Amino acid sequence: MVSAAASPPPSGKPTQDELKRLAAHRAVELVEPCMTLGLGTGSTAAHALDRLGDLLRAGALPGVSGVPTSLKTEAHAARVGIPLLPLDAASIALSIDGADEVDPDLNLVKGRGGSLLREKMVEGAGARFAVIVDESKLVPRLGCTGAVPVEVVPFGAPHTLGLIRGLFHGLPGFHARLRTTTVPEGEQGSEQQPFVTDNGNYIVEMFFDGGIRGDLRDISDRLLRITGVVEHGMFLGMATVAIVAKKDGTVAVME
Ligand code: 5RP
Repeated sequence: MVSAAASPPPSGKPTQDELKRLAAHRAVELVEPCMTLGLGTGSTAAHALDRLGDLLRAGALPGVSGVPTSLKTEAHAARVGIPLLPLDAASIALSIDGADEVDPDLNLVKGRGGSLLREKMVEGAGARFAVIVDESKLVPRLGCTGAVPVEVVPFGAPHTLGLIRGLFHGLPGFHARLRTTTVPEGEQGSEQQPFVTDNGNYIVEMFFDGGIRGDLRDISDRLLRITGVVEHGMFLGMATVAIVAKKDGTVAVME
């Protein structure tokens, strides 16, 4: 079901960041006093944190607290005054987070920011999950616009990468690689090192030419059966509502 709402900003074409803010603010309207929230990670979720902080300081949302999905979000939430809880002490009513891709069934790719494991743990534990995106994140099928990340343990990571490649052997256009990050200031200048998640793990990036055409649940199961894989960034059937800010500044709610 799609319902359009909200009026466009007063003038001009909104920037992508303004659209992210619009979606985030609309999601925060779902928050009620005393709720415990799952607090997402990324530039869209950051707008929700700022808005929540403003409302908490204004006394408009007494008793609201949150469970952060990354160390970055933990620091941001603390900075804007959102009380924090560990996952095991929380009963999460609503999670609010961005996504890299949203398909027509509200399946998501998440984790291009590297926080997929904690995001999936927190958002999977909550009663409702509002995904907040600008229109550019809507895709006909997952894996269309970039990497599908997979978190793997560092031990034997090249071996695990080989097993992941083997899973898709012969699939035209498929490739996978270990995500790296540039570390400056080494003796020999800058160098590439594996990207390390908040959990001390590595990320394998999978690329599908034109997106994933197979059965998503089957692919998920096969990935999770690889020893060495911790979790992947396909969030299947987890989002309960998508709040989508459109280029014209209106907001669509898909559920
Ligand atoms: C981080 C995520 C983010 O939600 C996703 O990458 C979207 O980020 P942004 O809101 O900055 O576009 O999954 O792991």
